[in-house]
Amino acid sequence: MDGERMRELRQQLRLSQADLKDRLNERLGRSYDKHKVSRWENGREPIPDDVAGTLTAMVSDHPRDARAIVVANQKGGVGKTTSALNLACALAQKGRRVLLVDMDPQATATVALLAEHHVTAYKMDRTMATVILRDQPIADIIIGQGSDDFPSYHAPFDLAGSHIALSETDQRREAGFDVALREALEAVRSVYDDIIIDAPPNLGTLTVMALTAAQEVIIPVRTEPYDTMGVGLILGTINKVQRRLNPGLRLAGVLPTQFNRRKSVDQEVVAHLVQAMDDKVPVLEPVTNSAAFGHAARNGRIAIEMTPTASGVVAYRRLADALASGAPLPRADISAVMMGEGA
Ligand SMILES: Nc1ncnc2c1ncn2[C@@H]1O[C@H](COP(=O)(O)OP(=O)(O)OP(=O)(O)O)[C@@H](O)[C@H]1O
Ligand SMILES: [Mg+2]
Repeated sequence: MDGERMRELRQQLRLSQADLKDRLNERLGRSYDKHKVSRWENGREPIPDDVAGTLTAMVSDHPRDARAIVVANQKGGVGKTTSALNLACALAQKGRRVLLVDMDPQATATVALLAEHHVTAYKMDRTMATVILRDQPIADIIIGQGSDDFPSYHAPFDLAGSHIALSETDQRREAGFDVALREALEAVRSVYDDIIIDAPPNLGTLTVMALTAAQEVIIPVRTEPYDTMGVGLILGTINKVQRRLNPGLRLAGVLPTQFNRRKSVDQEVVAHLVQAMDDKVPVLEPVTNSAAFGHAARNGRIAIEMTPTASGVVAYRRLADALASGAPLPRADISAVMMGEGA
C-alpha cells in the first residue's frame, strides 16, 4: 500500500489522521502519533504491513452509506452511458465499492458489461425489470465479480442490469411508483460507497424514478449548439423532482462531452453554457472527443480501463477523484477554452 492509497482509504472511513492513529493503536497495541500517519501518507516512510492490513480490514468492515449519482439527459447519444461506465470504473479503481444501476430499457451499459449474457440475466430474473415491476429485492439481481452465474463478468464494480422489459414502467400506474427505485436501493446503501444510475434518453417515469433515488445529478451535454438548447428541459424536470419528490437532489453539474478543443464552435458552446447557467449550475471540465470511447465499446471494455492515458478519460478520472474526496468538482475553464488550450 502506498501513501496515496492510505489517504484514500482514511477519507473513505471519514477519519482524521489523529482518529486513524487512535484506531490503529487500539487494534495493534502501538503508540503511533498522527505525524507518523502524515509521513506514511506523504510517502516519507514505508507503511508497515500490519498497518496496511488493519486499514484494509477496517474499510471492508465499515458500514457504508452510498451516495447515488444519476447521469441524465432526455437527449440521446450525449454520453450518459459512457459517463456512467467510466465514472463507475474510476471510482472502483480508487478502492470504492460501486454499484452501477442501468435504468435504460435500451440496456446499453448492461450489454457492454455482459455481452451476450445479458439475455441470460433477463431470463434468470436478474435485471431491474424484476425489481421495478415485480418488487424483487435488488440484492437478488446484482451481478458482480465472482457471481456463479456470470463467471465472465470482470468489471471492477457491481451491476444491476436492464432489459427492454423495463420499458413497461411507462404504462404502469401504481401508488408512489416514482419512489420505487429509491425504496429498492435502501436495502443496499450500506454495502456501497457510490451508486451510479444510468438514465434513459427521455423524461418519462424511469428518469423521474432515477432522479428521485439520487443525491446528485450530472447532465452530460454534447458540445453541439442544438444539444445545449435542450438542457432547459432536463433542468425543468429536475426542478419539479426537487420540489415534489426529492428536495435533497443536488445538481452536480452539466458535463460537456465530445469536446473538440481545436474547434472554435465547441469552445463557444462551452462558453455559452457557462454563461447560460449563470453560476446556478456548474459547468464541469469537458470530456474531449476521443476515439478511445468507441474503441472500448466495440471491444466490450471501458475506456478508462482499456486506455487509461487517452485524452478523453482524464476528465472522468478527475471528476471521480473529486467525487470521492468531496473536493469541489473540476469546472470548465473558459479562459483556457477561449485561448484554445482546452480544459
Ligand atoms: N467523449 C467522447 N468522444 C467520442 N465519442 C464518444 C464520447 N462519449 C461518448 N461517445 C460515443 O457516443 C456514442 C453515444 O454515447 P453514449 O451511449 O454514452 O450516449 P447516451 O447518452 O448514453 O445515449 P442514449 O441516449 O442512447 O442512452 C457512443 O458511440 C459513444 O462511444
Ligand atoms: Mg445510454
